[in-house]
Amino acid sequence: MLKVIIVAGARPNFMKVAPIAAAMKRRPKLFQPILIHTGQHYDASMSGTFFRDLELPEPDVDLGVGSASHAVQTAGIIQAFEPYVISEKPDWVVVVGDVNSTIACALVCAKLGVKIAHVEAGLRSRDRTMPEEINRVLTDQIADLLLTPSVDADENLRAEGIPPERIRFVGNVMIDSLLSNLQRAKLSTARIDLGLGKKDYAVLTLHRPSNVDRKGSLLRILDALTEITRRLPIVFPAHPRTRKMIDELGLTERAENIKGFMMIEPAGYLDFLQLLSGARLVLTDSGGIQEETTVLGIPCITLRENTERPITVEIGTNKIAGTETAKIIEAANEALDRPLNKNALRIPPLWDGKTADRILDALCQKPARKQGLVS
Ligand code: UD1
Repeated sequence: MLKVIIVAGARPNFMKVAPIAAAMKRRPKLFQPILIHTGQHYDASMSGTFFRDLELPEPDVDLGVGSASHAVQTAGIIQAFEPYVISEKPDWVVVVGDVNSTIACALVCAKLGVKIAHVEAGLRSRDRTMPEEINRVLTDQIADLLLTPSVDADENLRAEGIPPERIRFVGNVMIDSLLSNLQRAKLSTARIDLGLGKKDYAVLTLHRPSNVDRKGSLLRILDALTEITRRLPIVFPAHPRTRKMIDELGLTERAENIKGFMMIEPAGYLDFLQLLSGARLVLTDSGGIQEETTVLGIPCITLRENTERPITVEIGTNKIAGTETAKIIEAANEALDRPLNKNALRIPPLWDGKTADRILDALCQKPARKQGLVS
């Protein structure tokens, strides 16, 4: 029996953790999971709804850390997490993705000599101004088992000198959630509630500090959206950070005056999946949405200068447009002029809905515990 702490902290973690927790529940003789929520995200719309939609069990522990500067938030998680690791003495701690909770919990385990498995290891944007890139690089350096979503990630890790025996290509666990929830998402009323019915529409998500914390970049994006709404309405489930910045920068009226631009509350997983899967176009600065649109065969315009998910560009659904107004408009027009062909889908290897089981197999294969302080 392996005792495994699974760490979830922020919104993009929940859809990665859910299939792992569910797979462990299916193998009760082999796994004793403990689900820990760091509390990095805490609003019902950013956390609670996702637990319900993804049928995640209540966390065994909520560290309740909340929002703060990166240093304070990361330090708070480290301090709150350490006693649990010491008292539970897990065989493994599983961390996912690239948020502050990921590096904070990995660091605690590395110092205690507790084995860390990093799910979604090896992705690199090569942009160290992104906090997530720092979290990725550091987590991968200290994790014992690096579970990668795509072969480019394996190459990145090998290039950084990580021994191949620590790397395991398992596929994309977020796609497990996507595929297993598509049917349920059809029951959502999100599209009808917004009066979209069968109309063409675009979905926008935007929350990166580099895009939303400065008036100049937000204005450039709003200018592009104004132009794109001439062709189709845009639904924007706004991250709390973005809504706050739009207010603080005095841009609320500017945003509300864009005809066909619907700024709504953050959507839950199933509502968002329905909106996403029916969209004609997606504009985003998220990482995960670049991958979800690849599997759904929907054109995605990434409002960033780079991506840690190059496979989505190779497959052809994703276009890195940056944040210049003219480039965004050009990319949107190009995508809208091209007929949507969901029949010619190309799915990256092992994005097949079975990644969680491969993760569990990998946990079983490695020796259960390294020599550490907690043993
Ligand atoms: C975090 C992740 C980012 C991920 C994003 C998804 C890091 C470094 N960043 O960024 O990789 O893409 O989550 O959402 O870990 N807030 C609320 N309610 C909440 C959570 C946040 O109102 O439940 C507001 C607070 O004002 C907070 C701000 O949003 O200060 C930012 O939250 P934070 O968790 O610091 O970072 P995100 O921008 O959400």
